[in-house]
Amino acid sequence: MGENGSRPPEALTLREKASLLSGVNLWQTRAVEHAGIASLRFSDGPHGVRCQPTVDEFLGGGHSIPATCFPPSVALGSSWDPGLARRMGEAIGREADAAGVDVILGPGINIKRSPLCGRNFEYYSEDPHLSGVLGAAFVEGVQSTGVGASLKHFALNNQETDRHRVSADADERTMREIYLAAFEHVVKDARPWTVMSAYNKVNGVYASEHRWLLTTVLREEWGFDGAVVSDWGAVDNRVAALRAGLDIEMPTSGGITDGDVVAAVEAGALDESTVDDAVARIRALLARVAAARPAGPPHLDLHHALAREIAGQCVVLLKNDGALPLAPSARLAVVGALARSPRTQGAGSSQVVPTRLDDVLDEMARLHGAPVPFAPGYRIDDDVADPGLVAEAVQLAEGSEVTVVFLGLPGHQESEGFDRAHIDLPANQVELLRRLAATPARIVVVLSNGGVVRTAEWEDGADAVVEGWLLGQAFGGGMADVLFGVVNPSGRLAETIPRRLQDTASYLNFPGERGHVRYGEGIFVGYRFHDALDGAVSYPFGHGLSYTEFAYEDLRVDSRGTDEDLVVTVDVRVHNVGQRSGADIVQLYVGLPSSSLPQPPRTLRGFEKCVVEPGRSADVRFELHWRDFASFDSGRGRWTVEPGPVHIEIGASSRDIRLSTTFVPTLSPVTPELDADSTLAEWASSAAGRRVLEREMQPPVESGMSHSRFLADGTLETVGTIPLRRLARFPGAYLDPARLALCVEEVNDRGNGHDLPGQGAEKKPTN
Ligand code: BGC
Repeated sequence: MGENGSRPPEALTLREKASLLSGVNLWQTRAVEHAGIASLRFSDGPHGVRCQPTVDEFLGGGHSIPATCFPPSVALGSSWDPGLARRMGEAIGREADAAGVDVILGPGINIKRSPLCGRNFEYYSEDPHLSGVLGAAFVEGVQSTGVGASLKHFALNNQETDRHRVSADADERTMREIYLAAFEHVVKDARPWTVMSAYNKVNGVYASEHRWLLTTVLREEWGFDGAVVSDWGAVDNRVAALRAGLDIEMPTSGGITDGDVVAAVEAGALDESTVDDAVARIRALLARVAAARPAGPPHLDLHHALAREIAGQCVVLLKNDGALPLAPSARLAVVGALARSPRTQGAGSSQVVPTRLDDVLDEMARLHGAPVPFAPGYRIDDDVADPGLVAEAVQLAEGSEVTVVFLGLPGHQESEGFDRAHIDLPANQVELLRRLAATPARIVVVLSNGGVVRTAEWEDGADAVVEGWLLGQAFGGGMADVLFGVVNPSGRLAETIPRRLQDTASYLNFPGERGHVRYGEGIFVGYRFHDALDGAVSYPFGHGLSYTEFAYEDLRVDSRGTDEDLVVTVDVRVHNVGQRSGADIVQLYVGLPSSSLPQPPRTLRGFEKCVVEPGRSADVRFELHWRDFASFDSGRGRWTVEPGPVHIEIGASSRDIRLSTTFVPTLSPVTPELDADSTLAEWASSAAGRRVLEREMQPPVESGMSHSRFLADGTLETVGTIPLRRLARFPGAYLDPARLALCVEEVNDRGNGHDLPGQGAEKKPTN
């Protein structure tokens, strides 16, 4: 029974309803037993379950229940493999379910706007299509186990600097095409149970209070049917957030903000129906949780094996002059403290306590058939070369045929909470590599880093470079598999490796000033920027080598349907022309060469991983839709496909386009909307507009001119930028300002029954 004896047991008081809208502690929401409302439990996310046994300790990463530490998103992004993302999500869902967790706080799908973002290891890519496809697969995997996912951080949380206050300022096209696109993809395709609003402001308004983001776009346009949860501590004004569409504030505010909600309703400043709507969404989320069948106990050995499989598929072979794969019979050495003390994940809220940790030296010894001699070569937390360690490593390398050198970023350089200051490897590691390169041994560099490191200054000293990112608890096994060719590398860069930090798109606008970060590069993020400038990069987006070779042929494009029903199929054949079995990632890019909007030369719109045996081929089919050719027209506030040719390119990276063709989508002719602010040229470029102007701008007979000088070739180019409203005031334009409104109606075919007076036409009847 409720407090009020006459109320039905399930009815809630205002105070009870308000108490559901925020956490009861760090990780849980409040239960209201008499109304049958259970408590929800959240846990991080995203590459493993970080479930703390206590619910009142925030930074207790070291105290969470052991869980499989899968490759963090930076690595998973490089797999370009939604099947793996799905399986990983499913395994994490099972572990979450077993730990009593209802919602996993992930995936994080923010775009890597700058390589400096301290949290790039938690995100997939600089490209929204790749991020969206992988994010959707991960969400499907998690939710298939009856555990909810929380898509985060919505939106424009692309830096850590001042993340609780900074305003990310971007124009609508940039938001729609780059920063919101992956969220849109996941919401529409995978229906996440929750979305997490970000800490930062977006164009001056906190994301947690941003009605346009949380309601107009997320719910009304994309059809999101779940609950919006705040990032931990992201709510500034609870009542404003509730009005904007934020359902659950996490963690607890100790009841303070529940009181704010009650007070606002009682004062008439907040409609109680807004509270009811949020409560209904929370109850719907609880119903989803309750309807789920138990996923069954997780099998941690199998999950470790899966972590190893995924790790092997995430590794990107950047460069290989033949030093890889390692021959088991070769005289090998391993150098690098990061082989002994590996970095497998980044620091902060995503940090998982692994169930076990592979040792790369053991794993290499197993595949080599004997122990591999090792020297640390440097100190991980020091920048200064240690002459003793260097000398020992050089001596070891001299006695080997191939030395594998493990380099990377020390943990203290990258974490949630702050951005990086540079993208260089520590100087002591670069110095060590320089000395090793002078030995007769072939040098294979293995990198461990969550954010991109620049390779330009040292890669000449390496015969092969393997980008391992952060590979989770099975780093050792996954990496050994690739080094020895047990796994043929198929990872591809999900982000460009620039030659220098100064070459990156956001360089002059990161991390902002005085509380604002201006996304001045617009849509030109990552490869879109580098390709538009045709600027040199160390390794382009999409790049990754294999131990075999692939060739593409027989590109065919077929389109059917018009406008929003347009369906374009693209077929291509991939040949394995090398000696080994391997997986290729076929990449499809679209270019819009005749667009009236600034466009990058190419945009990723499809990719497909296919395993092909040597000497065999595989047929790959892509299906593209209207939106794949659309740009967001901020002026009109909608997506548009402009008439004109479309480039379809098939490549092995954004800089290695192997096949291309052009087709013209079938679109119904659209008459551009014209108004009094449209320019003379805009009016003249539309047949209807020109007709109206030729009739209206008639010079008087005594001028001796048969038609307006303003519309004549040669003059139109010069005066064409004048808006019609102002042209009508020009002497000699012979355009009557009083008739403009009627001209606009006529040209847009909004005649509501009227013909222009003075046309000699009868007035039509109106209703
Ligand atoms: C992070 C979120 C995380 C939450 C809970 C926040 O600081 O930004 O990604 O899910 O903490 O740990």
